[in-house]
Amino acid sequence: MKPLTFYRILAILLTLVGIVHCQQQCPTICSCYPGPELNTGVIDCSNRGLTSIPDDLFYPLGGFIAKIDLSNNMLTSLDIDRLFTLLRGNRVDELDFSSNFISDVTGTFDAAVGKDYVTLNLSSNAFTSFPEKVIPVIHHRHDLVLDFSNNRLTELTRHMFAGGNDPILFGFQFLARNNLINRIDDETFQGVGIIDTILDLRSNLLTTLSPTFQSPAGVREFRFSGNPWNCDCNLRWIIDPMRFLVNHTSADPPNCVTPVAIQGRPIFSLTSNEFTCLPFQQGPLQRNIVNQDSFTLSCPASADPPTPEISWTVWLPCPNGGDPLSCFLPPMRLL
Ligand SMILES: *[C@@H]1O[C@H](CO)[C@@H](O)[C@H](O)[C@H]1NC(C)=O
Ligand SMILES: *[C@@H]1O[C@H](CO)[C@@H](O)[C@H](O)[C@H]1NC(C)=O
Repeated sequence: MKPLTFYRILAILLTLVGIVHCQQQCPTICSCYPGPELNTGVIDCSNRGLTSIPDDLFYPLGGFIAKIDLSNNMLTSLDIDRLFTLLRGNRVDELDFSSNFISDVTGTFDAAVGKDYVTLNLSSNAFTSFPEKVIPVIHHRHDLVLDFSNNRLTELTRHMFAGGNDPILFGFQFLARNNLINRIDDETFQGVGIIDTILDLRSNLLTTLSPTFQSPAGVREFRFSGNPWNCDCNLRWIIDPMRFLVNHTSADPPNCVTPVAIQGRPIFSLTSNEFTCLPFQQGPLQRNIVNQDSFTLSCPASADPPTPEISWTVWLPCPNGGDPLSCFLPPMRLL
């Protein structure tokens, strides 16, 4: 027998042993099958109407668990400690809790006591704020992927990912497409070394980013499209090549929604002067005057970039109650 054939047969036998072993020990309500690599397994408890994690989740196959699929159930909270007590220290790569009703997290992830993961999928749940407990106290894997798409997060807060004790998180991905995020703190990514990051914030409610925003180190990709970006003068800094943001958004270019003049234009196709702030505007000014009275009306106006084409329309009600008199002052130069 050629050595190659021998090893192939051995691999098939080991896989079969794995299947039999796994099927004997699979949680009664779930199904189990081998994972993508030899001696890995998948526990599939999706679509079971579960309101809590099954008591017999333990999975004894030698090797480790590629994925625990608890998606499409009726879970309302993620109890990390209970999950890993049931697993009795088995290593897990992917935890899929997508499409439940989870709004809260208890317990801690901590690789020092075997509670760690590579991918945590909490998409399509009921989170309104980011649960810092999902960041492991100690993390021993190379990547850390958090999927919070289709929740109701409203902002990314200061030092949001600095909940653990590890000084560096490599290969960090935060996927939060389709939430209600309208604000990113300048220091969201500070407080911990976040490296080689993918940030997916497509289809949120972002209108602007502050010039003092600090990107994570070694950004790989920012996905910012599908937000109502207001490309006025406050966002002009974003095209500064020294900020490198253009390099990380090119795969999925975000567009401006306001001001109207540049609606639909890709942000990074604009020139510096196209990021405009309109003149300062104030509500109606009212002044009672008697005959022959004179007064000075001061109308401060500033624009960025400055433009000399500014005009005022003055509207005066007629003293005898007739048609209002309106007069148009010629364009004036800005001082
Ligand atoms: C999370 O689950 C959703 C729904 O099943 C899926 O579309 C998405 O790709 C998953 N995310 C990751 C990072 O695997
Ligand atoms: C960013 O992109 C610009 C234009 O595509 C390119 O000239 C520049 O070298 C890039 N910078 C980095 C750091 O990749």
